[in-house]
Amino acid sequence: MPSIAILGSGNGSNAQAIINAIENGMVDAQIVCIISDVKDAPILKRAHKHNIPSHYIDCSPSPHALRDEAEQSVLALLDSYKAEYIILAGFLRILKESLLERFPRRIINIHPSLLPSFPGLSAGEQAFKAGVKETGCTVHYVDSGIDTGDIILQKRVEIHPTDTLDTLMNKIHEVEHIAYPEALTIVFNS
Ligand code: GAR
Repeated sequence: MPSIAILGSGNGSNAQAIINAIENGMVDAQIVCIISDVKDAPILKRAHKHNIPSHYIDCSPSPHALRDEAEQSVLALLDSYKAEYIILAGFLRILKESLLERFPRRIINIHPSLLPSFPGLSAGEQAFKAGVKETGCTVHYVDSGIDTGDIILQKRVEIHPTDTLDTLMNKIHEVEHIAYPEALTIVFNS
């Protein structure tokens, strides 16, 4: 059974969907730890509730990158838990080369758009402002580009004229929570 570490910065609803999928037997994996760059992030509380070891990694002062020292701390944690996969679930920092080299094709991310459309931050808002008629989510392998890695699975949502950014984001989250467990099943069974 693969050992996975989840990294996230926020609410952790995707981490929760993965926890649920493991608990109900859909995904065959063990979450060895959950790591966040945000001290009081709800994702860490979710870990605690499910008795999953959780860790805060201080990345300051860098706003977007996982600076060298923080990356070494993450690597040390991943080693200590013998993590085989890194699952990014709303982790809003860019991973550096040494982490990518240590986990080739073993880092997976979920992104709230139909890549290659709308990479980067605030992808839901980008799609909403662009006035497109559909968007969705993408689960993909992480490479050295921004949201450019090979796609594992995508799910679509329609954008209706009555949608607000809030209703759209709710729809995207709904499909994300189905997509991530499905994608992990594909990866772990291949
Ligand atoms: C998700 O919508 C995920 O796709 C997005 O952050 C949200 C995290 O929600 N990730 C990115 O935008 C990465 N570029 P969650 O904390 O409730 O899982």
